[in-house]
Parts: sequence; C-alpha cells; structure tokens
Amino acid sequence: MFLKNCWYVAALDQELIDGKLLGRTLLGEHVLLYRGESGQVIALNDRCPHRGALLSKGRLEGDSVRCMYHGIKYDGSGKCVQIPGQEMIPPKLKVRAYPVVERGHFIWVWMGDAAAADPALIVDLPYLSEPNWKGIPAYLHYRANYLLIVDNLSDFSHLAFVHTKTLGGSEEYAYVTKPTVVERLERGFRVERWHVNSDPPPFHKKVIRDKDSKLDRRNIATMYVPGIFYMETLFAAAGQGAQTGNLAGAKEYRNCQFMTPETEGTTHFFWSYLNNFEGEDSIMSRSLLNSLIEGFMEDKEIIERQQQTLVEDPSFQPLAILADAPLAHFRRVLDKLIAAEQAGAPGQSSQPRATATVAG
Ligand code: FES
Ligand SMILES: [Fe+2]
Repeated sequence: MFLKNCWYVAALDQELIDGKLLGRTLLGEHVLLYRGESGQVIALNDRCPHRGALLSKGRLEGDSVRCMYHGIKYDGSGKCVQIPGQEMIPPKLKVRAYPVVERGHFIWVWMGDAAAADPALIVDLPYLSEPNWKGIPAYLHYRANYLLIVDNLSDFSHLAFVHTKTLGGSEEYAYVTKPTVVERLERGFRVERWHVNSDPPPFHKKVIRDKDSKLDRRNIATMYVPGIFYMETLFAAAGQGAQTGNLAGAKEYRNCQFMTPETEGTTHFFWSYLNNFEGEDSIMSRSLLNSLIEGFMEDKEIIERQQQTLVEDPSFQPLAILADAPLAHFRRVLDKLIAAEQAGAPGQSSQPRATATVAG
C-alpha cells in the first residue's frame, strides 16, 4: 500500500550517464530509466507489451528504446514506432510512460495518475542546486520497509546511542536535549532541537580546525510524505547567543534524504549532505560523505534487523514514548492520504502548511 500520486526520487543523475538503461523497481513496479540522446530523462514501464521481455535489457536508440527480443522499438513517450518486418502498428502496442523531473542531481518520478503530476509539488530544496552548498549525492539500498527509515529520522534521541562515535557525539544528547518545537504539518512534521555547550561530534570535528571548543548545535528537521526529509544543522561557538539569533561564524549543513519504496520490504535511500563552508576544495565533502556512510550503516544494521523482527511477528505492536509524537503524526497523515487516494479522492495541496505548533 503506497501513496501513488506523489513524486519519488527514482535515481541520481550520475546513474544515467553513458546511455545506461537503468532497470529499477519502484513501489513494486518495474521501471526503466534512461537519458535519451536529446538529454531528456525518460521513465517507461520496464516490460515490453509484446511478450513481456525487460526493456532495460534492450538497446538505446536516440530517445527510443528497442526491445532486444523481437526488435520492437518504442519512443520516449512509450509509443511503438517500429515492428521489424511489419508495417501496421497496433494502437494498443505501447508502453506506459511516467512523468519525470530532473532537479539538483536527483531524478523524480510520478508513479500515479499522470494527469495529476505537477512539478510544483516537488518539495523545493534550493541548496541542492545553489553553488555555495557543496555535497556529493549518494545511494544506499535497505532491506527494510521505507517507513522504518522515516521513523528513524523522526527521533534524534537515537543519535546519542546509535551514532555516539560518528554523527552523535555523546549519550548526553539524549538526556539533556529535547525538541524545542514540534510542528505538525498537513503533510509531515518539523522538529527543532538544540544541544548547547556541547563537544563537536566526530563527523564535524574531522572537518574543522578548532577541535576543542564547545559548540551550540541546532538541528531543524522536516519530513514530508511519502519520505522526503531534510535537516538544517548549525554549529556556532557556545555562548555567542546563537539561540537568540547571533549566527556569526556558524557552520551549517543541509541533510537531504529521500526514501523511495522498492518493495514492501526494501527501500532505495538517496541523500546529499551539503555544507556551506568548504569553498572550492572537495576534501570536506568527501570526509562528510564517508562519515555519513559510516553513520547510516549503523542505522541500517538496526533497521534491517527491526524489519526481520516485524516480519517474524506481525502481531508486534510498538509502544510509544513521548519522542514518538512526530512519527505517530506522520503515520496518521500518510494513512489518511493513502486511504483517500484509494477511495478515489482528487489531487493534493501543493503548499504543505502547519496545522499546529507545540512547544515541547
Ligand atoms: S518481447 Fe519485446 S519485442 Fe518481443
Ligand atoms: Fe541515524
């Protein structure tokens, strides 16, 4: 049960270089992605309507793809344009094409009703294409349902225990910090959390000169359905008054993560971790990429085992604690949208807005 009428990240632009035909399962559907000769990215259902061969095993010809079983050729809109040895093309012989948008190194695909696919509905993350933000887009595959990853990102107290030596820095984080703001949004949530007078966590320490001074750390995380996450992180010198607005000399990060279901039990996980202080040198981006992979592998181990546990015992009912409020809200929002979609309700609002703000 997935939300269909929304945009999902399907690939990184770098996966489509050199005329590659990328076969990828999205929401349980086999999709073929490629960049045609014109430069346009095309997404087609990855099944030849003739006898069901995979089009991703075919051959790219201009903006078209030729199925390499009996040679039938389809253009970028999925229309059959050639049947070797036959003049007449049956009108039914066509492949489903999915709406595609390329933005800031990510390829977005609309898996639902094509008529409702409005690019304005893609969450706008300007730093993915602004030159002062540097980062290296990357991909990981999870053997877990995408919502378990969404859950993981909904609660930062796990930073303290899972990522003590990588992204978190100390167990203290879970005890002394709590969300200062939790906003329940129409299509997700927003959480703000401060950790004042703290040591720099290991990933940050690696890329700064002054490794000993205390810092005030702010994380503002936003999650939108179906699994669009971004976090604005800031480190400022402790005591300079960052909490009351003095951000002079602050170092900032933007963490953009996109969870796209492959199947009910597996997920495509795309991300880019950007910083605004490395300048022209990419050494920091590479260090941060390695730190993030190290951190995500810590999450992955827990989440994939959690998936197994839930499969082993589907009757298991998680018990909520206070920190689970954003997570619970997100699940409710998503369930409602899926139910409405299945009942045939029309479109969605393009501007997610807050419906309540709770100080915590
Ligand atoms: S299965 Fe594709 S051409 Fe026959
Ligand atoms: Fe994590």
